[in-house]
Amino acid sequence: MKHLLVDVKCSDAVIKEKALKELRNVCCQCKACELHKTRTSAVFSDGNPDAPIMLIGEAPGADEDATGKPFVGRAGQLLNTFLEEAGIDRQRDLYICNTIKCRPPQNRVPSNEEKLACQGYLIGQISIVRPKIILLCGSTAANSFIDEDFKISQIRGKWLNLFDDIDVMAIFHPSYLLRNHSLETGSPRWLMKRDLLNIKAKLDEIRTQTDN
Ligand code: URA
Repeated sequence: MKHLLVDVKCSDAVIKEKALKELRNVCCQCKACELHKTRTSAVFSDGNPDAPIMLIGEAPGADEDATGKPFVGRAGQLLNTFLEEAGIDRQRDLYICNTIKCRPPQNRVPSNEEKLACQGYLIGQISIVRPKIILLCGSTAANSFIDEDFKISQIRGKWLNLFDDIDVMAIFHPSYLLRNHSLETGSPRWLMKRDLLNIKAKLDEIRTQTDN
């Protein structure tokens, strides 16, 4: 099934930034689910609002809740290493956010109710940023857009047709890779490296098309 976006006309980086700032302000005051009671901060996004790639994770952890920025803890640092190795620049090439914006207690998986309460923010972010590529990082993010039952290990690495004009790929979550250290051929870390190289190749292809 294809997902629809909101038709917001954000033609340049300045307008995108303004629209995202307004959405962030609403999000930071959100009380739509119980998680607002335990958050230090709602974690809205990091990176470039005009980036070609949008990476969507699961939910903030303790470090993200404390700083208000996504993927700054151990999982984020490992993600940075993988991105750097593939030649993807986190601050220039990526807009990063999460499926839900407030930390679930003990980092438990977000409930369907919590995901639904946050869905408008995520759809708003995609609609404003209009990335060329979306990376669904881990099962929770992938679950938000894929209706059938799946295992992340089966769907990762394939280009998915979930939105008009946006290439989507599911990739492993770095928290999973923190528990799997092997670099052997076919291991999760090896697959992650390969997926990110494919994504970099797609990014280069898009850049060549838009430069011409
Ligand atoms: N895991 C996520 O999915 N998102 C974060 O921001 C941090 C850890």
